[in-house]
Amino acid sequence: GSLKAHAAARGLLTGCAVNAGLFRSDPAFRKLIAQQYSIVVPENCMKFGYLQPAPNSYNFTDADALVAFAEAHGIKVRGHNFVWHEALPKWFNTTVNKDNARKFLVDHINTVAGRYKGKIHSWDVVNEAIWIKDGRADGLRSSSPWFEMLGSDYLDLAYRTARETDPHALLTYNDYGIEYDTDEEQKKRDAVLGLLRRFKAAGTPIDALGIQSHIHAGGTETYGKGLRRLIDDAGGMGLQVFITEMDVKDDGVASDDIAVRDKTVAEVYGNYLDTVLRGPEVKAVLTWGVTDKNTWLNGGTKFRPLHPARAQRPLPFDADYKPTPAFFAMRKSFDEA
Ligand code: G3I
Repeated sequence: GSLKAHAAARGLLTGCAVNAGLFRSDPAFRKLIAQQYSIVVPENCMKFGYLQPAPNSYNFTDADALVAFAEAHGIKVRGHNFVWHEALPKWFNTTVNKDNARKFLVDHINTVAGRYKGKIHSWDVVNEAIWIKDGRADGLRSSSPWFEMLGSDYLDLAYRTARETDPHALLTYNDYGIEYDTDEEQKKRDAVLGLLRRFKAAGTPIDALGIQSHIHAGGTETYGKGLRRLIDDAGGMGLQVFITEMDVKDDGVASDDIAVRDKTVAEVYGNYLDTVLRGPEVKAVLTWGVTDKNTWLNGGTKFRPLHPARAQRPLPFDADYKPTPAFFAMRKSFDEA
């Protein structure tokens, strides 16, 4: 059975990030997505710089194609993302300033959320706004250009604008580095929860927390305690939780034997999903990609590995679109959840 069939039995959505280049060029890739997944998220083509290559001039070609494909196959779509300190266009720094930043932010959300109104399961309205190393007590990333120009109100403005434009989409806050039981990640979890509480107190619309889940196999750090508390606390605030970008790096696995590496990666998939699916909070599990042929961990599709044997194998399908041990571990966790 497919990943989506096993997930559906537990009332769960399962999905993947879709690379626009592969999607455009490879029918086998599209077929695999239609067979396996109940939700998709564009890897890049809904980001600010991709959608707005010139000021106030939009290119929706790839995003439209993915949304149409999803509609045709009964697949839901996550939107990723409106506001981020990365993936901004080249013109951004010279064009956007303190005086017009608010208008650029609102216009972008109005235009994009408006175009896909009613067709998006959930929007990552703001992505990765917490960065402890910037030294603020509230943990906000003060080095983000949005923060620099608009201060911390940019967050509330983005969520309010998204809600007004598409009231059907679940509004998500998405972040990474909140998975492991380290002091640093605990600090980041505290800051994320602080931000979500601040939204609730201010009446800023927020529906879900996205835990990216870029994790690794073979390391010494543990996960489970802090992660469960984060999920429980988010649930206690009435929020849904999504695992939005899961993949498992295996640099920490000493063996070069592919079977050993794949087995170790699969064990991490299984343990991690068992942990996050222990309660009712997590409603969707997505991996950041589909096949080891295209993963950001190997530099995308243009990757030429220096040490080909150690190219990462972090996803549920290998480069030939065959299911990996991680695929079977995902299904097993869905069955047992
Ligand atoms: O398409 C351009 C191409 O025209 C240009 O010649 C080339 C030169 O650099 O760049 C190409 O764009 C690249 C783009 O991926 C598409 O391949 C960008 O440089 C590259 O920075 C971009 O990387 C993406 C990254 O986000 C930054 O936007 C990765 O593919 C994508 O997997 C990664 O995804 C992020 C999530 O959005 C947020 N969470 C972390 C996750 C992994 O980093």
